[in-house]
Amino acid sequence: MNFKQLIQQGIPSVLPAKKEHDLTINHAPKRKEILTASEKKLAVKNALRYFEKQHHAILAPEFANELATYGRIYMYRFRPDYQMKARPIHEYPHQSEQAAAIMMMIQNNLDLEVAQHPYELITYGGNGAVFQNWAQYLLTMKYLSEMSNEQTLVMYSGHPLGLFPSHKDAPRVVITNGMMIPNYSKPDDWEKFNALGVTQYGQMTAGSYMYIGPQGIVHGTTITVMNAARKISTANNESKGKLFVTCGLGGMSGAQPKAGKISGLVTVVAEINPKATQTRHSQGWVDEVFDDLTALMQRINKAVATKEAVSIAYQGNVVDLWERLVSENCNVDIGSDQSSLHNPWAGGYYPAGISFEASNKMMAENPVQFKQEVQKTLIRHANAVNALAAKGMYFFDYGNAFLLEASRAGADIVNSDGTFKYKSYVQDILGPMCFDYGFGPFRWVCTSCDAADLAVTDQLALSVLEEMVKTAPEEILQQLNDNIVWIKDAMKNNLVVGSQARILYADAEARIKIAEAFNKAIKSGKISAPVVLGRDHHDVSGTDSPYRETSNIYDGSSFTADMAVQNFVGDGFRGATWISLHNGGGVGWGEVINGGFGMVLDGTEDSDRRLKSMLFWDVNNGIARRGWARNEEALFAIKREMNRSPELQVTLPAIVDEHLLDGLF
Ligand SMILES: NC(=O)c1ccc[n+]([C@@H]2O[C@H](COP(=O)([O-])OP(=O)(O)OC[C@H]3O[C@@H](n4cnc5c(N)ncnc54)[C@H](O)[C@@H]3O)[C@@H](O)[C@H]2O)c1
Repeated sequence: MNFKQLIQQGIPSVLPAKKEHDLTINHAPKRKEILTASEKKLAVKNALRYFEKQHHAILAPEFANELATYGRIYMYRFRPDYQMKARPIHEYPHQSEQAAAIMMMIQNNLDLEVAQHPYELITYGGNGAVFQNWAQYLLTMKYLSEMSNEQTLVMYSGHPLGLFPSHKDAPRVVITNGMMIPNYSKPDDWEKFNALGVTQYGQMTAGSYMYIGPQGIVHGTTITVMNAARKISTANNESKGKLFVTCGLGGMSGAQPKAGKISGLVTVVAEINPKATQTRHSQGWVDEVFDDLTALMQRINKAVATKEAVSIAYQGNVVDLWERLVSENCNVDIGSDQSSLHNPWAGGYYPAGISFEASNKMMAENPVQFKQEVQKTLIRHANAVNALAAKGMYFFDYGNAFLLEASRAGADIVNSDGTFKYKSYVQDILGPMCFDYGFGPFRWVCTSCDAADLAVTDQLALSVLEEMVKTAPEEILQQLNDNIVWIKDAMKNNLVVGSQARILYADAEARIKIAEAFNKAIKSGKISAPVVLGRDHHDVSGTDSPYRETSNIYDGSSFTADMAVQNFVGDGFRGATWISLHNGGGVGWGEVINGGFGMVLDGTEDSDRRLKSMLFWDVNNGIARRGWARNEEALFAIKREMNRSPELQVTLPAIVDEHLLDGLF
């Protein structure tokens, strides 16, 4: 059978041969054993629902064994043998071009080069699933190959519930991941209900088929680091030669040295795991590696003196580095940390004075002592940060729970009013400088899979931004200019892995203008095939998350999720090709609700109408909410949008004189 026939076949009626467990592939860790005996039976019974009865006697013990060995039933036997990768859109069997584009995006999320645990259908973040098992993948692809533009495919946490009649302007796919009755949204609930096969953790772009590999994280980190540098500079372009010190060369943190270099800084990143250091060094994301602190200090001093943009790894514990910087009276300009402190007791953070190997042993054999060592180290870590901050260093929390865990360890990191001494990257940087103005991670993918099309889209996006910058208000000039620099260098930075995709930060006006330009170019044949638009969920309106995306909302509403839910619904009836809503993502199950969309542009007038309507809502919904929360930048942006768009009427807050409240309670 060829590729098209294999897709159309769906779940095969003849059982494919069992597969060897390939240890050269990065597999998901064994999940916690949490089900009772009767629940395990239910999990196997649930899994067997996908298969003809005649196969049950063979599959039942096999699935029971997968559950016992891996903590989940992945149905490994059914993983297809064809190469998993984004293919040009015409290679997918289809009745609907929109559905074919979605098949391409699904395959990209499961590409061996892109996905973290591809055989367990996990794209990133350890648990960010596209599907729970291979039967769901096969059935979904079959439905997509058959569906028309008068149908909608309904996805319940990876399970394709079926094709339902709808209409051409409805989304082709509606996805929900991990939607729980609120009381059942603790981490162990995920373990249990995922093991039963009835829910999954979609993270953000994993469960919504919108992941584009490392490019997204490099761009986001660059925007953050660049703006952190600006916070400490008196005039533009003063970041050259400033010293940025941080920790982590892992999955996301590994983007820090690349971002620091793009921003013109002297970047020093500590990493305890030699494998992680080697990976980033061999990729060229970090220029030089030192394991000797004396030699490192000399190198830092030279780079700062000559204002050299360079990225340097310190192979060792970050606390040793911080303490040396203090003892040498070094002036650090910017500090942060991206160890995995959201997971402090199982390898997210390594204690000082103990080797990497000995730490790994201790965390398994003596977890109580390990925890004490981590907490002692966190106190030293915070003390060194405080000493350098007292000399003028700007320190920010990178959404990794550094401040939270340091405070729990008893470190001197909390003010008398209970707030932390330092702000988070969203409170201080991304929130007020980007999200509140509507700037967020807009992205697109060329369904031709042709780099030449991507180059055309880069040029079109650049022209739009260059045109906008001529008349843009002062408040957003910098954001536009940053993205002009980014898109000019985008090809050079060589970050395309998997599909031909691009990301940049844009506001509603820029997103709409760029999309219009793409649609016209598809119509004229300048771009050879449809383009998929989308975004990261870590955006203006897509995510309600009180400790991250909405941490700069101070009216108490950061614990509500109306914005993300409204966004998903509104995108759905304004023309998105697919929409998704997730529980969990980044900060954990039960801690965040986030959503996203995909939109296929095919050069038609229908596409033109949809893109204007949907992109307008997708950004301005969040700005309106941020404005109602009294965020100044958002009030500026929404008032400007109301001037530009007479049909938009947003409720604006009356600002209270604070002194009226004094003495009331
Ligand atoms: N980059 C972003 O935009 C972003 C946004 C939000 C949150 N985060 C958070 O950043 C954290 C890091 O993410 P990741 O994907 O890179 O995780 P990761 O686990 O892949 O990388 C963290 C690295 O830190 C190293 N490390 C831990 N303790 C150390 C120590 N004491 N000294 C030196 N090195 C040490 C680890 O060896 C590891 O390689 C996570 O908590 C994530 O949630 C990142």
